[in-house]
Amino acid sequence: TKNPLSPTQCVGPDYRPESKKPIATVSTEVPFENVHTLPQTPQLIALLTMIRDKNTHRADFIFYSNRIIRLLVEEGLNHLPVVEHAITTPVGRSYAGVQFQGKICGVSIMRAGEAMEQGLRDCCRSVRIGKILIQRDEETSKPKLFYDKLPEDIADRWVLLLDPMFATGGSATMAVEVLMSRGVPEGRILFLNLIASPEGIEPFVKRFPKLRVVTAFIDQGLDEKNYIVPGLGDFGDRFYTM
Ligand code: PRP
Ligand code: URA
Repeated sequence: TKNPLSPTQCVGPDYRPESKKPIATVSTEVPFENVHTLPQTPQLIALLTMIRDKNTHRADFIFYSNRIIRLLVEEGLNHLPVVEHAITTPVGRSYAGVQFQGKICGVSIMRAGEAMEQGLRDCCRSVRIGKILIQRDEETSKPKLFYDKLPEDIADRWVLLLDPMFATGGSATMAVEVLMSRGVPEGRILFLNLIASPEGIEPFVKRFPKLRVVTAFIDQGLDEKNYIVPGLGDFGDRFYTM
């Protein structure tokens, strides 16, 4: 049967062939094994469309951001090691399953990274959360470290580092340096991020080849103010104050 809608009105997962999708809805590919982009489902692109839209109001921005954050946390947890764990089901069958073994904590890069804490708590009850306050200078885009408060035994934990925006990568690099200075091995850091820029991510993952990045989308680039484009503007302002 013929679809009565024209190709531009067409709805559904396969609304256009891959090669005909608008370029900004296709995540930039980067050739690094330690960068993991979420599966590019129609659902994810629709959620990103909501939060990128400048006409989306704060309540909706929070709601749809939280849905993407949940996907990021679930994917991030997939990168933690598991050991075999056999159980018996209520119908008396044995089941050779797995369970996570180890300790984790979240670390948010304030302010915007704090928006990801609830998503982590929703998946990991009573998870410990450390904070690093880093602010990007509005003129120079250079990060400045103001404060950190981290779990004392952080060196023994897997660290889920939280920041929704990765532009020049300066803030995330500074945060990783803080973590490593407290004894966290690079290979035990998972950086969870909503939108990254290609020019920021390349030097970052080359510098920290053992760390893993889980991101929802790699955008097209940065503008003259080092904002991600097409991006979504200032995440912290939109989530907390606008
Ligand atoms: C934003 C964002 C990142 C940083 C990204 O924070 O949340 O931390 O900028 O930019 P970069 O990759 O070029 O360092 P910002 O410093 O604006 O503070 P906020 O969280 O209070 O909004
Ligand atoms: N911080 C943001 O919130 N958005 C950007 O595009 C860049 C830095």
